[in-house]
Amino acid sequence: MDYCAIQSSGVAGVSLLRRTTASVAPPAAASSSEVKRRRRPASESFIRQHLRSLVPYQPILPFEVLSARLGRRLEDIIKLDANESPYGPPPEVATALGNLKFPNVYPDPESRHLRAALAEACQLESEYILVGSGANELIDLVMRCVLEPGDEIVVCPPAFTMYEFDASVNGALVIKVPRLPDFSLDVSRIIEVVEQENPKCIFLTSPNNPDGSIINDEDLVKILDLPVLVVLDEAYIEFSNLQSRMSWVKIHDNLIVLRTFSKLAGLAGLRVGYGAFPLSIIEYVWRAKQPYNISVAAEVSACATLQNPAYLENVKNLVIQERGRLYNLLQGMPFLKPFPSHSNYILCEVTSGKDAKKIKEDLARIGLMIRHCDTKEMKGYIRSSVGKPEHTDALIEGLKAVLQS
Ligand SMILES: Cc1ncc(COP(=O)(O)O)c(C=O)c1O
Repeated sequence: MDYCAIQSSGVAGVSLLRRTTASVAPPAAASSSEVKRRRRPASESFIRQHLRSLVPYQPILPFEVLSARLGRRLEDIIKLDANESPYGPPPEVATALGNLKFPNVYPDPESRHLRAALAEACQLESEYILVGSGANELIDLVMRCVLEPGDEIVVCPPAFTMYEFDASVNGALVIKVPRLPDFSLDVSRIIEVVEQENPKCIFLTSPNNPDGSIINDEDLVKILDLPVLVVLDEAYIEFSNLQSRMSWVKIHDNLIVLRTFSKLAGLAGLRVGYGAFPLSIIEYVWRAKQPYNISVAAEVSACATLQNPAYLENVKNLVIQERGRLYNLLQGMPFLKPFPSHSNYILCEVTSGKDAKKIKEDLARIGLMIRHCDTKEMKGYIRSSVGKPEHTDALIEGLKAVLQS
């Protein structure tokens, strides 16, 4: 049997080969490495069936790669494509990293210092809190804990694309309940879908990425009344000036709330997220979690960030102020319709036949990075993070130039 034949025989071919290996001695003339080579199935067949057709997640390009590709220095690139903080973390973080004493010792698997600091900052006992390597790790961890292959989840596009991606990795199916034209949730359709399809969980985001809309209490309570696990992603909650719903996990045992240090706290590169879980669920998430998922550098940095709430408050106010200015300037641009945002980015519809993808590419050529998603729902839109005032000025100038060309 040659390589291609084994490949096309797929999984059945693998089990046949295993039996053969156990019972038949190799012909004397063939060397053992030759035999191994002939009997080895195509290596792709080791990969789980559902992952072979997985479409890879499209992350943004690393800063250094971008710099080399554009032929520009890092300092000359304006990065408004991933909603990172243009101000970075408080100065206490650099000091804490400089004083790191035991990088040779594994970190605390329970991240006790950080969870205690979070408990105080969030007014929720640490037993409800679990920390992850970014909110992204927690999204995947929750799915690994609750989804059997073939289970369904609900997402409400336009939405953060990681939910769909992680569902695919975990062998789950995605039911989409699109948001209404003003980006609010279609709650009656969600209720119908949950009642008819019996999905395991629903992923909600408030403020929503990419449009910045928020979910009101009434809608959230209606969804929490359904027989479904609700994962509420609050990665951008600070920019809304609204209270987090973390404490709601004490009264809703089907609610998980996720947050992150990647946005307001300016630690995207160090990867720290956290979640509030009902006690009946958190026990199992602990069991499934990788023991050393938060590095010592990440934990001390997150703790240092929480030591300076005044800095975070100031950054939040600067971003909110700049968001207002950016919104007004975008509104004054022909061909763009910005949407009011409760977050640190603004979504714009590109109107009058202009091509959103081309605008993104033309801006990238002059070192201005914004986001365009080539999905069915988002083809005609661009999203820009809220940067410093000088970033806003550069973006508006860049937009004027590319829209005239
Ligand atoms: C809605 C939403 N949730 C989660 C994340 C991921 O956060 P983290 O960096 O903590 O993994 C992002 C990142 O852009 C996001 O937009």
